[in-house]
Amino acid sequence: MRVTNEIIYVGVNDHKIDLFEGQYVVPEGMAYNSYVIVDSKIAVMDTVDRNFTHEWLDNLANALGDRKPDYLVVQHMEPDHSANICNFMNTYPEAKIVSSSKAFAMMKNFFGKEFEDRRIVVAEGDTLELGTHTLSFIGAPMVHWPEVIMTYDAKDKVLFSADGFGKFGALDAEDDDWACEARRYYFGIVGKYGVQVQAVLKKAAALDIEKICPLHGPVLTENLGYYIDLYNTWSSYGIESDGIMIAYTSVYGNTKKAVELLADRLKAKGCPKVVVNDLARSDMAEVVEDAFRYGRIVLATTTYNADIFPFMREFINHLTERGFKNKTVGMIENGSWAPMAVKVMKEMLSGCKNITYTDTNVKITSALNDVSKEQIEKLADELCMDYMAAAPDTANKNDLTALFKIGYGLYVVTSNDGKKDNGLIVNTVSQVTSTPNRVAVCINKQNYSHHVIKQTGIMNVNCLSVDAPFSVFENYGFRSGRNTDKFEGVDVLRSDNGLIFLPRYINAFMSLKVEQYVDLDTHGMFICSVTEARVMSDRETMTYTYYQDNVKPKPQTEGKKGWVCKICGYIYEGEDLPEDFICPLCKHGAADFEPIKS
Ligand code: FEO
Repeated sequence: MRVTNEIIYVGVNDHKIDLFEGQYVVPEGMAYNSYVIVDSKIAVMDTVDRNFTHEWLDNLANALGDRKPDYLVVQHMEPDHSANICNFMNTYPEAKIVSSSKAFAMMKNFFGKEFEDRRIVVAEGDTLELGTHTLSFIGAPMVHWPEVIMTYDAKDKVLFSADGFGKFGALDAEDDDWACEARRYYFGIVGKYGVQVQAVLKKAAALDIEKICPLHGPVLTENLGYYIDLYNTWSSYGIESDGIMIAYTSVYGNTKKAVELLADRLKAKGCPKVVVNDLARSDMAEVVEDAFRYGRIVLATTTYNADIFPFMREFINHLTERGFKNKTVGMIENGSWAPMAVKVMKEMLSGCKNITYTDTNVKITSALNDVSKEQIEKLADELCMDYMAAAPDTANKNDLTALFKIGYGLYVVTSNDGKKDNGLIVNTVSQVTSTPNRVAVCINKQNYSHHVIKQTGIMNVNCLSVDAPFSVFENYGFRSGRNTDKFEGVDVLRSDNGLIFLPRYINAFMSLKVEQYVDLDTHGMFICSVTEARVMSDRETMTYTYYQDNVKPKPQTEGKKGWVCKICGYIYEGEDLPEDFICPLCKHGAADFEPIKS
């Protein structure tokens, strides 16, 4: 088979192998690829597995005709590619080996010699001239061993990619789904080395590639963007397919029943694909690739010997040793007297980065009951939230908590009533036009600042930065300027309009002059021009989310029943919160309260 006019395929197909690398089932066999580049000089790209010495040497002789090879390029020393190095060197005593220094050290380990007088050591960026073809070498350490190099032929625009872009399956097998077996191969064999694969993809992006010649699987000649995109997704631990994968073990069928119920509920709630894998009966490598393929997975298992069922332990070990990350994980545990599988599984996954655990886990104490069924429903709701919201028949179209998703910064608005300086916290500041610059500020009419700004027509907006402590919010947010002096004892700084700007905890301030006023019933909107603007630091702006997550102390709700203000933590004790309730501390309304979770 010719890859191009001057590049000939001389690899072999293995249909006798039972387990590739001693662990992966390969029902469609395996290909060990090797190529010959025929030019003024001749280079052979890698050898093949030890069981195919004669077939390969015959393929090689046929491709060479009456010529002899000058070089054997060894890109990878794993024995499925390197086993015939010595046979080649004996058959062609004039030839030299071209490889990385690490590969020669490995030859010493494998063969007891490193061909001192017949070797050319190459490293990243080195080239080998064959005549019209110039081979450039690309370091690809840990894709999949440390000695690996890839090779680029600029004339035919071919990348020889070593194990990269390889797959399970012989080339003469009936198998047209490249991604399926390439994904299983990738996550089984190279999955741990995403960072290194990303580094090679970056180098490859600078090359003009028309064909990829891997050491396993077919030569890739068309639509290379598809394959490269998949490799990019896999090596960056991205989400390849929409859907949810459930991996489970079950001893007497009760955990399986829970999984089946969950799968039904996920489908009913719009999940486009639910993949269910029984870890005791599935090919482990298939389940591992599924775990990396989908963005959400559910792990369901029994407590077993104060641990988890062995197949689940093995499965999670496969995930963690491959750098599992960037996923949402839900869990189902079953245990007749002391269920602890969730705790064990979370401990096992604790080193994995960017894992989001569902709020709901399902606890089964032997068999499903009403409580655990309800938990399954909740877990399905959580996992399918976006699917349900996307579909017109399951979406809640009046969910006003959507408004909470609007991003806000936090600001101190300063003003002066002619006698006293005042300041208050607002989150409703936005630039509404740029020619001319107009900034809108909304202020609750109950705040004294509203009254003052309406009278004076000027204010300063101080943009709080992330270093502002909670005391800033207490001082300007939870007290009224009508009866307190919020700047008492503070060394104040003033802008050209005579108003205060904060000496600390801000990254900018702007002085505003009111151009228009819009009455919004509870609030007034001041639409203003900018008369002065200064940047004080490069610190990030304090957002409402940052405040909630990092600044506001956790409210002491333990043992209390009722509602808690999300802005300041004020607790309203009582069954029902009146619709017109206003927080006495921060003056936010009932919409900013949430029920205290028991
Ligand atoms: Fe195909 Fe890593 O050997």
